[in-house]
Order: sequence, then C-alpha cells, then structure tokens
Amino acid sequence: MRIELAEVTKVFADGKKVLDNICYGEKFNALAIIGPSGGGKSTLLRLLGGLLSPTAGEVSFDGSKVSFDEKHLIQYRRKIGFVFQAKGLFNHLTARQNVILPLVNVHGYTKTDAETAADNLLGRFGLSADKHKFPHELSGGQQQRVAIARAVAVKPKLLLLDEPTSALDPELTGEVLDMLNELRNEGLNIILVTHEMGFAKKACDKLMFIVNGKLAEYGDSEKLFTRPGTAELAVFLSKVLEWST
Ligand SMILES: Nc1ncnc2c1ncn2[C@@H]1O[C@H](COP(=O)(O)OP(=O)(O)OP(=O)(O)O)[C@@H](O)[C@H]1O
Ligand SMILES: [Mg+2]
Repeated sequence: MRIELAEVTKVFADGKKVLDNICYGEKFNALAIIGPSGGGKSTLLRLLGGLLSPTAGEVSFDGSKVSFDEKHLIQYRRKIGFVFQAKGLFNHLTARQNVILPLVNVHGYTKTDAETAADNLLGRFGLSADKHKFPHELSGGQQQRVAIARAVAVKPKLLLLDEPTSALDPELTGEVLDMLNELRNEGLNIILVTHEMGFAKKACDKLMFIVNGKLAEYGDSEKLFTRPGTAELAVFLSKVLEWST
C-alpha cells in the first residue's frame, strides 16, 4: 500500500504546532513510527485513522485522497482497524462479545455470522479457551490479542496501532508482536507507533522518525537502524538500544 502525506500540519486549539509540514510518500507493508515522547506520533496516527483532521495538507492511500469531512470520515474509519495502547476493550463484555459487537452494530453482520467470524478468529489466535472471559480475567497480552482480533475481524486493508505493547509485561510482548507479524505476512498493511525497536527493525519494512512535529528521517527500516542518516536518529537509537543490546 502506498501512503502519501503532502505538507501535513496540525495545530491544536492552544496554537501549538504538533505536526509541522510533513511530506512523505512511500510504499509500505509495515510502517513503524518512532521518536521521542511528545513529538507527535500519536497525533499523526490519529490523523491517518481519520480521528483527527489536519489543519493543512493532504493524506492519501493508494492514490485516493482522504476527505476529512465528517460524512466521509465515518465511512473511512470503517475500513481501518485501530488498536490503542491498552484498555481498548469493553469491560462489561466477554472477549467473544467484544469481537461480535462491532460486527453487528457497525458492519451489519447477522448475529450468527458475527458469532462464526468471532469464533474462527479467536480460535485461530489461540484464544478459544478464554473467549467467555471478561477483560479483567485475561492477561494484558491476551487482552491486546483480543483487541487486534476485533480490529481485523472485518478484514481491513490497514491496521493502525499506537504502542500496542507498551502497557505489557515484557514476557507478554512477544505473543502480541508474533500475532502482528503473522497478519503482516498475510498481506495486512500495518502502521504502528512503537518503542519495540526489534520489531521496528525486523518486522517493519519502513520507518518514520518524528521529532518535535517534524519528519526528521524516513526510509527502509533495516537500513536506518544500521546506518542512520542523521545525528538525531543515531542518538535516539543509541539511547533506546542502550539497555537492550
Ligand atoms: N488534543 C490536544 N490538544 C492540545 N495538544 C495536544 C492534543 N493532543 C496532543 N497534544 C500535544 O501534542 C504534542 C504531541 O503529542 P502526541 O501524543 O502526538 O506525542 P507522541 O509522540 O505520541 O508522544 P508519546 O511518545 O509520549 O506518546 C504534545 O505536546 C501534546 O501535549
Ligand atoms: Mg503517543
């Protein structure tokens, strides 16, 4: 899938320029967005998911421009899967009901079709035994896997994730990343904000490095990890990799 950002700028009501003239165009399968805290990564992801509108500039996917008016955005959001850091599940619903609900309420599935789809998906990702549990009865890793299953149940072409593993204990991170990698291998396009540098390097083909609202560097992930083109990225990577190598 090809993504194009043309002079994308976001200024919030307080006048702060959170995204500053972002220009980008690449084909990707999995695109990792990395960078220091407060730089604008989540803002950019929310904008790509149609949850926020840019103050200026344009976004397009595979050549078709995103219309940021409310009527079109409702349609647009339906075609995209979204997974946030944590606490994305409905707490009063079981894992299975969490997957079923949007299929019926948003996507017009019959109850039977939604149940079949949910059971297949949860089974496939090793969650059958837990499907009647409520979120608080699941581990953090299981909760995130249910959230991802729910997001991909309608077979979106694009899945957006904002730090999907950052609230997890380290031993649970792997199972979530494995699931994403499997989905990616099946052709799902993924854009994720992440602090998991191993995943960004090995499982993502493209990388965006955002600093202070600016796209400081981008390109092939593996290459940028091996040979950062800017001192800023080199310093950032040396800091985040310091304790993990
Ligand atoms: N709705 C909003 N109104 C005003 N300012 C906002 C809003 N949302 C975010 N910001 C500001 O925009 C900047 C970028 O925030 P954002 O959440 O995009 O950063 P981030 O790169 O995702 O950071 P982190 O790594 O800590 O999650 C921050 O200074 C933040 O305070
Ligand atoms: Mg963020």
